[in-house]
Order: sequence, then C-alpha cells, then structure tokens
Amino acid sequence: VWVEDPCYWGASRALLDLGLSLAPLTVDDEGARLPAAPDPTSPAPRLAYLTPSNQFPTGVAMPLARRLAWLAHARAHGTLLLEDDYDSELRYKGMPFPALQGLDADTGQGQSVIYLGSFSKTMFPGIRLGFLVVPPALAELFARAGADHDRDGDQLLQLAMARFIDEGHYAAHLRRLRHEYRSRREALVLALHQHLPELAEPGCAAQILGGWRGMHLSLALPPAVDDQALALRCAALGVTVIPLSVYAVATATSGLLLSYSGVPREGMDALVARIAPLLRASCQRQ
Ligand SMILES: Cc1ncc(COP(=O)(O)O)c(C=O)c1O
Repeated sequence: VWVEDPCYWGASRALLDLGLSLAPLTVDDEGARLPAAPDPTSPAPRLAYLTPSNQFPTGVAMPLARRLAWLAHARAHGTLLLEDDYDSELRYKGMPFPALQGLDADTGQGQSVIYLGSFSKTMFPGIRLGFLVVPPALAELFARAGADHDRDGDQLLQLAMARFIDEGHYAAHLRRLRHEYRSRREALVLALHQHLPELAEPGCAAQILGGWRGMHLSLALPPAVDDQALALRCAALGVTVIPLSVYAVATATSGLLLSYSGVPREGMDALVARIAPLLRASCQRQ
C-alpha cells in the first residue's frame, strides 16, 4: 500500500495491523507525489491512501492537476485510491477542490476511488460514525464485509444523525464551527507570530504549515530537534502538542502539531506564551 509520508498514524497502523506493507509517497506542496515508475522486480502497490483535501499532518491541499494525474495513474495501473476526506467540511477560505471520488465518477467509470468520511471532526471523536462511498463494483463486497465486521452498527445513532442532517441542524452546526474555528486559527497564528517574531525572519528554521482548513496547524522544526522530548516538556507546562515525528513513515520529520479546536480564542495567547520559550531555540537561524 502506498501511504503519504508523513501519514496519519491511525491509517498507517491499521494497514500494518492487517499485515500489509507500506511504501512511502513523498509529500510536497501539492500533496502526495505520484510514485516513480513501478519497479519491475517487485509488484506495484494496489492501494494508495491519500488525504488530498488536507494532507495530514502538513495541511497541504492537492490541486486539480495533481488529482487528475493520480486518477490517470490509478486507471492505468489498476491502483485503488483510498481518499480520506476526514475534515473537508472545515474550510475557512476559498473554494474546495472537487473530491477525487467525484472527479473519478465524472471523468471515468467511477471505479478507482474509495471515499472515506468521518463525523469525528465535525461532531465529536467518540461518535464513532463515518461513511464510505465505494465504486459500484465493490459495493456488494463492502456491504457484506460491513455486516460481518460491525453488524449494522449503532442504528439509533445513525438515525439520530440522519435526522440531524435532514432537519438542517448539521448545516447550521457546520456554519457555527467554521466561524469559531476560523477565529481560533487566526488567534493561534497571531499568538505564534507575537511570541516568536523569529518565525517571520528569512532563514528561520521553523515554519508554520497548514492552510485555512481543519482543526490544527503544524510547526515544522529542523530534523535535529527532538520533538518528542519537546512535546513532553510542553505537556509538563500543561500544553498538549503532538510531535510530528510520530507520523513519519520513512523520512525523519520534526515539529509539533498544534490543535486549536479545543482552545477558545481568548485562551490562545496565554497557552502559546507558556511554551514560546521552549520553541524559541528551535526557531534560530540555521
Ligand atoms: C487523517 C485522519 N483521518 C481520519 C480521522 C478520523 O478517524 P475516525 O473516524 O476513526 O475517528 C482522523 C482523526 O483524527 C484523521 O486525522
């Protein structure tokens, strides 16, 4: 299976637990790069796990041309694309790119993409409710596997969620979330720049990653920084951050994932101020 490098560990772990072997895909400023020409001596991966709307954890959005190139590759090589669209509802600026799954249905046979959605981000993680849109040829297989795997799931919860959507409450909830998270994101960026003015200096080794989407930003740090130790020191100050190295597949990464969804705008500055002295050393010129 091809996976983005860095990759959401929930996905890479699940694939590893199934006994599959992972082949890393480089992530650049357009998302996952297409794999180089397949190695004739080893079988090409059959599945590629992608987060094109908001690459996790770098926050890169894949532009249309790269999406079309992935679809062309998938059709030519029989690769199935697993499109994890886990938070595209949370977009604060600009128009979204069409999903790979929709593009596939519009421009081809609709056989190349499995689309994965989740209510974990827009509702709450404990809801354990998500959905798949699978190619027609796989629908029967997935329905059977789903029934074996979790029977019909929590039907009461599914009905409640369906009604929440039908009656328009979900759309209103998303509007409120977008407004609130956009403001929290702005507060985080402002606080980072205020407490770490070095970030704006050319040559600063630290860089804020992530666009106007989602629930987090990442602060990329030089590979020499031990981000796991840094995260522990932040935790000791009462601030939870995730070291980016936990998402590395083959390429060493260092940095911190900073989630802003759980911190009200008014509280952001104080939290950033608390960890800024720890971060400062990592922002120095190289
Ligand atoms: C990249 C990515 N995909 C999917 C999910 C959602 O997973 P689940 O629906 O299992 O909560 C998350 C949640 O953190 C995520 O970060």
